Amino acid sequence: MKILVITGTGTEIGKTIVTAAVAAASRDLRVAVLKPAQTGLAPGEPGDAAEVARLAGAHVTAVELARFPEPLAPGTAARRAGLPPVRPHEIAEAAQKLATEHDLVLVEGAGGLLVRYDGQGSTLADAARLMAAPVLVVAPAGLGTLNSTALTTEALRTRGLACRGVVVGSMPAEPDLASRCNIDDLPVAAGAPLLGAVPAGAGALAPADFRARAASWLSPELGGKRPAG
Ligand SMILES: Nc1ncnc2c1ncn2[C@@H]1O[C@H](COP(=O)(O)OP(=O)(O)OP(=O)(O)O)[C@@H](O)[C@H]1O
Ligand SMILES: [Mg+2]
Repeated sequence: MKILVITGTGTEIGKTIVTAAVAAASRDLRVAVLKPAQTGLAPGEPGDAAEVARLAGAHVTAVELARFPEPLAPGTAARRAGLPPVRPHEIAEAAQKLATEHDLVLVEGAGGLLVRYDGQGSTLADAARLMAAPVLVVAPAGLGTLNSTALTTEALRTRGLACRGVVVGSMPAEPDLASRCNIDDLPVAAGAPLLGAVPAGAGALAPADFRARAASWLSPELGGKRPAG
């Protein structure tokens, strides 16, 4: 697994924090993080890829292909900015080039899987298809996640994409009943293994603490040492 595409059941789910955890747990590897389209930020502001590098460490190469200032789907934001959209083949080519110089390339989408990147309706799924890359789904912990996770993994299967697994983006310190039950039910809903759970508040840890703890949140499949189940 050299290229891993990271999507989520929606926006603000914790994709960036999970991407940072995977990168931090792979500190012995040369890791690149690619954010194909960064929306909602002005030039110069740190984007998701920079946040991954800040949390995970200096072994991470952070790359953005395009930035659109309005906090909208990339296709809409590009159109409104009068800028060329990011196309799936550009994402695939950039990731494959990074893969020649790195051991692991993490591609973080914008929002959820079927958010459009251009006026033709292209999505992150099209880029994943071009790269034949597996997809990791970041999901919320609580009520509603079983449905949105199942919808996302069904969409992956429909498109012939491999779901590598599911990671909970933000697990409350004191999980409610739904969050506790979802640990068992998420893999069933997803048809794919639960490969980790990042604790709520992890993004606010000092980078040294984040790096020290990241492996404990993730299964060995993602470079971690979290026991299965
Ligand atoms: N485990 C966590 N610990 C602390 N903060 C978190 C955690 N997960 C998410 N957050 C916070 O929630 C917000 C959304 O998280 P994040 O940026 O990772 O979402 P995302 O899924 O990457 O969203 P986008 O679609 O915008 O890329 C951020 O402000 C982030 O700091
Ligand atoms: Mg993000």
